[in-house]
Amino acid sequence: MVVARPEWTPDSWQSKVALQQPNYRSAEALAAVVRELSSLPPLVTSWETIALKQQLADAARGQRFVLQGGDCAERFSDCSPSTITNKLKILLQMSLVLIHGCRKPVVRLGRFAGQYSKPRSDDLESRGNVTLPSYRGDNINQPGFTAAEREPDPQLLLRGYERAALTLNFIRSLVRGGFADLHHPEYWDLPFVHKSPLSAEYRAIVNRVTESLRFMENVLGVHPGEMQWVDFFTCHEALHLLYEQAQTQRVPHRTGFFNLSTHFPWIGMRTADPDGAHVEYFRGLSNPIGIKLGPSVTRDHLLRLLDILHPTDEPGRLTLIHRLGCDKITEHLPRLLDIVAGSGKRVAWICDPMHGNTRMTASGLKTRRFEEILGELEQAFDIHAVGGGSLAGVHFELTGEDVTECSGGASGVTEADLPANYRSEVDPRLNYEQALEVALLIARKMRADEKP
Ligand code: PEP
Ligand code: CO
Repeated sequence: MVVARPEWTPDSWQSKVALQQPNYRSAEALAAVVRELSSLPPLVTSWETIALKQQLADAARGQRFVLQGGDCAERFSDCSPSTITNKLKILLQMSLVLIHGCRKPVVRLGRFAGQYSKPRSDDLESRGNVTLPSYRGDNINQPGFTAAEREPDPQLLLRGYERAALTLNFIRSLVRGGFADLHHPEYWDLPFVHKSPLSAEYRAIVNRVTESLRFMENVLGVHPGEMQWVDFFTCHEALHLLYEQAQTQRVPHRTGFFNLSTHFPWIGMRTADPDGAHVEYFRGLSNPIGIKLGPSVTRDHLLRLLDILHPTDEPGRLTLIHRLGCDKITEHLPRLLDIVAGSGKRVAWICDPMHGNTRMTASGLKTRRFEEILGELEQAFDIHAVGGGSLAGVHFELTGEDVTECSGGASGVTEADLPANYRSEVDPRLNYEQALEVALLIARKMRADEKP
C-alpha cells in the first residue's frame, strides 16, 4: 500500500523533532546567518551529484568500488595546503591500491569540504565542578573548555561554508592541474612512504598499475578515459539542518531539490529516526544519500527508512553504511541484508569498520584497534559474498598525517604510544601508514577472493 505523504519543502523538517541541534542564544542572529548562507553560490552542481548517483548505481551492481574517507571532524585549522594535499595523497594512494585489488574503477568520496558538525552522546560536558555545552564541531563552537569557546556562534556556519569552499577550490585545482594523474603517482608520495615497511608492496603495485596504463595506451592504443586521472566527490553528515536547508534549492532544467553544499549528504546513526526531522529533510533531496546503520536497527525501522527515503528504488539513490563492530557484524549484517533483499530494493552497501569499534583506554583516550577494524572489514566482504551480493565500498576515518590515535598495524603503534601525537577532538583516525596498510590488506583479500 502506498501511503500519501504530506508535501515536502526544504523546511518541512521544522515540524518534526530535530535531534543534535545547537541552542543558540539569539534566534535573530541565527536567522540572519541562514539568510546569508542561502544567498551564497553553491559548492557543487547538480550535474556532479547526478554523475555520482550513476557511479553509486554502478557500485551497487558490483561494477565500481567506493572509497569514502577523511576526518571524523574537519577542523577550520585543517584548511591549509599541506593538510589538504596530504589527505588527497593518502586517498589517492589507497585508491590506486584498491583499483589494483578489485580491478574496478574506484569512486572517491572525501569526508571533507564541510564535515564540520558532529553529533554528541551528551549535550553537556563536565570537568570537575564545571559543566559546559559539548563541543559539536567547528561549525558550532570551539573545543576549548571555557564558557566563551563552548557558546554556539552562528557566524561559525559562515566561516565553515567559506572554508569548505576554499578546500574544494584547492582540491579541484589540484585535480584539474594534473596532481591526480594516474601516470604520476610520485606526486602523491608522503614523506614517510620511504621509511614504511609497506613501501615495497606499495611500490610494486604502483609499478604494475603504471605499466598497465602504458601498455593500454602505447601498445593497444586505448585511452583508459576516466581511469587516467581521477576525481573526488565530497560528503558530510548533514546534521545541522538549518545549514543544510540554506543551500537546498531547485536548479534549472531539472525536477527536484538538491543540497548543493555537498555531493553526498548522509544521516548519522543518532539522527536516523523515521519520524524525526533529519529523515524528513532527506526525503525531498535529489542527491544520492547515505544512512549509517548500527546494531540496534530493527526490521521495522529499516523498512520504514527504505519506504520513506528510497520509495522509487532509483538506482544510486541510497547507500547503506553499516557500522556494526567487529564482534557484532556476524550477528547483525546477515539480518540487515535479508531485510533489504526482502524489500526488493537496490542499495549500495558500504562498510564503516570504525564506529562500531571505538573503545576507551584506561587513561581515558578514545581509540580503535587496527586488528578490529580489519576484522570487521574482512567479515563484511565474506558476509556480503555469502548473501550473493558484494560490498560496494569502505568508509574510514583517516588522515594523511602521522598521528597516533588508533593502535596496531605494521608500524606497531601501541596503546602507550597514543598520547605522543593524538590530535583528534572527536574520533580516532587511522594515520597515513595504517590507512595504506588497511588498503593493501583488503586489496590482497579482494584478489584472493576473486573467482578463478
Ligand atoms: C561519524 O561518521 O563520525 C559518526 C558520528 O558516525 P555514526 O553516525 O555512524 O556514529
Ligand atoms: Co566519527
